[in-house]
Amino acid sequence: MKILLLLVVLGLSRGSFGEKIRFDNHTLYRFVPKNQELVDSLIGLEASGYPGYNFFSPVRGQNTPVNLLVAPDHLDEFKALLELNKVQAELLVPDIQKLIDNEGFRPDSLAGSFDWRTYHTLDEIYSWLRSLSDVYPDHVTIVNGGQSFEGRDILGVKISYTPNNHRHTIFIEANIHAREWITSAVATFIINQLLGNTDPEIRYLAENYDWYIFPVFNPDGFVYSHTTNRLWRKTRQPYSILCVGADPNRNWPYQWMQGGASSFPCSDIYAGPSPLSEPSTLSMSNFINSLGYQIEAYLSIHSFSQMLLLPYGYTTDHLDNYEEMKIIGEQAAYDLSRRYGTQYVVGNTAETIYIATGGSMDWVKHEYEVPVAYTYELRDTGEFGFLLPAEQIIPTGLETMDSIVSIFKSYEILHPRGN
Ligand SMILES: *[C@@H]1O[C@H](CO)[C@@H](O)[C@H](O)[C@H]1NC(C)=O
Ligand SMILES: [Zn+2]
Repeated sequence: MKILLLLVVLGLSRGSFGEKIRFDNHTLYRFVPKNQELVDSLIGLEASGYPGYNFFSPVRGQNTPVNLLVAPDHLDEFKALLELNKVQAELLVPDIQKLIDNEGFRPDSLAGSFDWRTYHTLDEIYSWLRSLSDVYPDHVTIVNGGQSFEGRDILGVKISYTPNNHRHTIFIEANIHAREWITSAVATFIINQLLGNTDPEIRYLAENYDWYIFPVFNPDGFVYSHTTNRLWRKTRQPYSILCVGADPNRNWPYQWMQGGASSFPCSDIYAGPSPLSEPSTLSMSNFINSLGYQIEAYLSIHSFSQMLLLPYGYTTDHLDNYEEMKIIGEQAAYDLSRRYGTQYVVGNTAETIYIATGGSMDWVKHEYEVPVAYTYELRDTGEFGFLLPAEQIIPTGLETMDSIVSIFKSYEILHPRGN
């Protein structure tokens, strides 16, 4: 009872006083579970939302590394668990708060201006999006995808150079997971490239497709990750006295709760009480329905791990046009690597990363038989994880753009435009 009361006090104070949660002496480890018992314990920890542990990478199984942030008051417990299972852990970051303090350093950015030398708030991103429709009135329309639980608009842009392109619509969503800041930075970078880069391949891509790009699919979580908890992942709809939010990428109505998701509200992978329980996923699903079969490509941008993932997350079977997507993806990963040597792994989600169900890409792919569907896991492989330093935004944006050019070049070779 005492413990429960203490937790309630902590939970409420964290939520309501608006102070930034600090992660002093929270330590990031990487280790490789070698036996199924440890794998099962870790999966249990992740699904229960037990405090003190923050999974920076999912538990995939034996012999696949796990990146885990451990709170200082759980360090002894963690070390005992490792010892019991005879596992050595590699210390990646001794004090994650130092990374949080350093990531957003603004050497030469001006407050209120927009660039890719720093990470931006939701307000800054939205005012930049709005400014685009003034600068490019013929090609950019602001689109409102709906509202979040806390009543924020989910804003995106439609980029269109001719009305004939609507059957070739590319949809990009980013930052559905709040803490993955590099993803909205890359989404805005892509918008800027499509509008401003004179490279012929980028011009072709920009002007021969309709683009819908939503840099922040989970605005409530994103704002909370700026104001209060840098490592927040979920939405902000409360589910119990202690726990807030569902994982909006476990909340979509295809194969919902069929694995890799949790029914415990405290877990970071809580699927929600029902599919589309989150106002943000419900309204974005309605928006996607309004485009329907026009969607030729759906790109969902996450971080981190350097992977290009193909549907589906519920099965390791190679379904639909897997073979083609795999070939196009491998070429895209190669073209991405040519700029800075960044190495990506390409494969089916369930095989490459882990079983995960209720993701947006799977639903869109299945619902509208979308020919091109990929989930990006951007830089890095865990050294900085979600706290990728701002100086890596531009390189990450450039290499990602290379891969997008590559995907559609390959796709059009295999499926020449008939018109
Ligand atoms: C972090 O750990 C160091 C070394 O044990 C200690 O001196 C320091 O007070 C700790 N910081 C916080 C905020 O707990
Ligand atoms: Zn993610």
